[in-house]
Amino acid sequence: MFLVTGATGDLGRRIVRSLREREMPVRSFVRLNARYSELENRGSDIFIGDLQRERDLQKACQGVQYVISAHGSGETSNGDAETIDYQATIELIEQAKAAGVQHFVFISVLGVDRGYEDAPVFKAKREAEKHLQASGLNYTILRPSGFASNLLPLAEQFRRTGVYVLIGDPLSRTSIVSTDDLARLAIESVSTEGARNQIFPVGGPDILKREDIPQIFGRLFNREPFLLNPPLLAVDGVRSAIGLFNPKLRSSLGTLRTLLANEFFTTPAETAHLESTFNFKLESLEAFLRRYLGV
Ligand SMILES: NC(=O)c1ccc[n+]([C@@H]2O[C@H](COP(=O)([O-])OP(=O)(O)OC[C@H]3O[C@@H](n4cnc5c(N)ncnc54)[C@H](OP(=O)(O)O)[C@@H]3O)[C@@H](O)[C@H]2O)c1
Repeated sequence: MFLVTGATGDLGRRIVRSLREREMPVRSFVRLNARYSELENRGSDIFIGDLQRERDLQKACQGVQYVISAHGSGETSNGDAETIDYQATIELIEQAKAAGVQHFVFISVLGVDRGYEDAPVFKAKREAEKHLQASGLNYTILRPSGFASNLLPLAEQFRRTGVYVLIGDPLSRTSIVSTDDLARLAIESVSTEGARNQIFPVGGPDILKREDIPQIFGRLFNREPFLLNPPLLAVDGVRSAIGLFNPKLRSSLGTLRTLLANEFFTTPAETAHLESTFNFKLESLEAFLRRYLGV
């Protein structure tokens, strides 16, 4: 039995779908108010709980061989990096260990080891990684770059308007990963010999400049992109203003700023190592978008 946390998230849904396509038993950890009927219809067990409650984590881990930790303090979470990405993950690791789980797969983030001081999610993920490594559990840590699925709503908006908003340096490099490939890597980590107790940076096969993304959209929809390119200073201004009355939101915006201000890509050597360890070719951003957008 697999336990998937964050099962209603962009990545978690894909992990559960793919496990069920392989007819593997899976328990989806979901909140009562989340949209989980699709997962249930696909034959996943549904465990209703909250990651901030230790008792829920303890119960969810009973009878589980593999944990895939894919939750996060994204837009919908009521918690922040400290409670969700750090505390809940540490507790999940402890409960997995107590329940005798055989392998723990942790979804971290690319660049987590660069010591960004102003990015709460990065700090939380790095501390959770260290905790997992010291836990004695078999583990695989996947450090992905940005997900291709994040771009689907932007592509739909571009299809309607032709407009693409790019904040910061258009020449900054990224290697966006197919969210479906990442789901596959997470599942196959538990059965791939070369993945045990390893950390993998995970990016797509191409190193793109951020300005390449509207060009890809333009090709997909046969439309000349109209680029709006506010400087990073605009985010700093908004952040300072928000900080006056909401210090917590100011802190979360630090992660966003870090993502916008830095490059997140995997090297060709890292990609080749990933492909040879897991024995499949990673999908390009353009191929991912074409598949989902039907163009
Ligand atoms: N998106 C990216 O580009 C990216 C890049 C690198 C790494 N990552 C990491 O990859 C992982 C998956 O990302 P994602 O974009 O798929 O996440 P997401 O769509 O934001 O989903 C987050 C998931 O966590 C669940 N969750 C949050 N708080 C919870 C709580 N208290 N109790 C139970 N569940 C809770 C959410 O449940 P609800 O549906 O109930 O809100 C949701 O299922 C995260 O760890 C993220 O940090 C993401």
